[in-house]
Amino acid sequence: MQNNLNIAFFASHGGSNMQAIIDAIKDGRLNANAACVISNNSNSGALQRARSENIPAYHISTKTHPIDELRIQRMIEIFIEHNINIIVLAGYMKKLPTEIIEFVGGRVLNIHPALLPKHGGEGMYGINVHKSVIETKDKITGATVHLVDSEYDRGKILQQISIDVLPDDTAESLAERVLAVEHIIYTDTLAKIANGDIII
Ligand code: GRF
Repeated sequence: MQNNLNIAFFASHGGSNMQAIIDAIKDGRLNANAACVISNNSNSGALQRARSENIPAYHISTKTHPIDELRIQRMIEIFIEHNINIIVLAGYMKKLPTEIIEFVGGRVLNIHPALLPKHGGEGMYGINVHKSVIETKDKITGATVHLVDSEYDRGKILQQISIDVLPDDTAESLAERVLAVEHIIYTDTLAKIANGDIII
């Protein structure tokens, strides 16, 4: 798929990756449209960022829609309304239903704060990932942009970026440095999809 990326972001927390992508769209580095943001967390920074960017923002969760089918149906209504053709997960803590993945033909991207397949899978999120890197005494870590399928962190890897693990790094210092390169690699991967260098 080339160009005309109409992105639905899914985010649960701060949304700094989402913001990096929105900024790239705004200053012309990425040819795409930030069409809507969906969050399961009504207090998320991601929803606040969306509102301040005038991007349609939706809180959809098991609280707002306790019945699975109705929750999925609401998401699909939103996709249709905004002509969504790609989903970008940016710190989304829930598993995406198969119906949602299929709606966009499998064009669902995620970013993981390590070099998959290392330090991935169930339970590997947030600071746990960086603790695992430190405990394993890895010399390098980084971030991975990958396609999402029904397994955690198992979809096709699209791009990775590496950084050195420094002798005095803590999980927290690593998290901060990895997040900075996540912003670069996520935007770059989307730009390559938009211009046809990466085909998904
Ligand atoms: C990032 O570390 C990302 O790799 C992981 O969740 C975190 C989200 O951060 N999937 P933010 O909400 O984009 O700031």
